[in-house]
Amino acid sequence: MIPEDRPITAQLNTPSSHSLPEEDQSVLQIWGRQPLAGQVKISGAKNSALVIMAGALLCADDCRIRNVPSLVDVSRMGEILSSLGVKLRRQGDALEINASHIGQAKAPYELVSQLRASFFIIGPLLARLGVARVPLPGGCAIGARPVDLHVRGLRALGADVQIEHGTVHAYIRGSKQRLKGARIYLDCPSVGATETLMMAATLAEGETILENAAQEPEVVDLANFCRAMGARIRGAGTNTIVISGVPSLHSTDYSIIPDRIEAGTFLVAGAITHSELSLAPVIPDHLAAVIAKLRSIGADVISDAPNRLRIVPGQRHGATDIKTLPFPGFPTDMQAQFMALLTLSEGNSIITETVFENRLRHVAELNRMGADITVKGNIALIRGVPMLSGAPVVATDLRASAALVLAGLAAEGMTQIQCLHHLDRGYENLEGKLLEVGARLRRIDADMELPSSEAPGSPLPT
Ligand code: EPZ
Repeated sequence: MIPEDRPITAQLNTPSSHSLPEEDQSVLQIWGRQPLAGQVKISGAKNSALVIMAGALLCADDCRIRNVPSLVDVSRMGEILSSLGVKLRRQGDALEINASHIGQAKAPYELVSQLRASFFIIGPLLARLGVARVPLPGGCAIGARPVDLHVRGLRALGADVQIEHGTVHAYIRGSKQRLKGARIYLDCPSVGATETLMMAATLAEGETILENAAQEPEVVDLANFCRAMGARIRGAGTNTIVISGVPSLHSTDYSIIPDRIEAGTFLVAGAITHSELSLAPVIPDHLAAVIAKLRSIGADVISDAPNRLRIVPGQRHGATDIKTLPFPGFPTDMQAQFMALLTLSEGNSIITETVFENRLRHVAELNRMGADITVKGNIALIRGVPMLSGAPVVATDLRASAALVLAGLAAEGMTQIQCLHHLDRGYENLEGKLLEVGARLRRIDADMELPSSEAPGSPLPT
């Protein structure tokens, strides 16, 4: 049994910037063109951790989730679960969760508005309690992020769902308080909608079939977590998932998959700095599209062991065209990072962003660093240039921040990145991992700007 829990933020040792106000007071300074070398440890997958934490609401018992990255978003999800009466305790990279007593079915707006993924609690709350009241997650920098497929699917499972004053009110009519299995076709293979409906269906009466379901590895990870709790799910990882409802789920001890987007980001870090980096643990099948594209431009990715990959850069890198697609296509979450790499390729590349409607905001910042990119709608034309030059830039969203770090690692001179709260949401100790392989960077207070010629190691101005 989990002992009395302490305030969740006290337990999840997230980066200090977590407590900073939205407009960060710190900046990241990177001195580029440093060769990197060595091994990088890949953390647990953010997009598994967030949905699996919500999935723990399905179980009225202890759940231990291992390999949980220490991220701002994970801390926020913990706060939301705590606000429902769930007990959480962080033990190293493990998170112990006990949802035996859920005090209330309404998540506070001020927490939900800070973390879109908090909407994942609606399916488990509804399945467990027969009622859920969750504020609509707003849009974000990359798009409107609607939840109509989640709502439509919950209605198909027999829930009565109304949206009033920005909150989704869902409940199950009648005394039985169980959802009813249904056949649901998703208009688009939405990761979130697939996960919400799969979780809700685990405790429904009868069989649910999700057609045109998302096939992302994080969906499979969630399905495996639910199966470890006794759920009956088959077909996860394909476009048709079948869930046979059970009356209740039991405790489990589950380890999350490595973060394929963090791994992909470090593969690009090796390529863009012309360095060999070795990453572990990774699941190579989760990176097939990214590996194929790296090879197509002249880099190579070698599997030295079943869960280890090594990036071997090419002398020069060629151009390529990329179209982001649902898994197993090229991941939208790697689009910005790969664009940073292609800015230095020989030749012209075209990137088409088909998943989100506003996920090219890093283009303007990359162009400030000397890239030559033009955008028409959701298509970016990247003309390769011989060099990027360091500059002050502003991060606009999580993966754009990573792209700017990568560009800074390759640029001549110093790059200074503002709005680091985006980065802290999705990368565990990115700076520490880069320093360990030889990058020259530092996070300092914005008002302690160093002249650009100063490099780490030189004494800071008093
Ligand atoms: C998940 O977001 C990830 N987030 C995203 O990662 C990722 O980019 C995305 O899947 C696609 O792979 C988490 O898992 C926490 P979607 P999600 O529902 O579930 C439309 C990162 O950087 N749509 O698959 O919100 C939607 O507008 C983040 O780590 C509807 O129209 O993505 C979008 O165009 C960013 N109606 C498309 O589907 C709906 O009800 C894909 O969205 C739901 C989605």
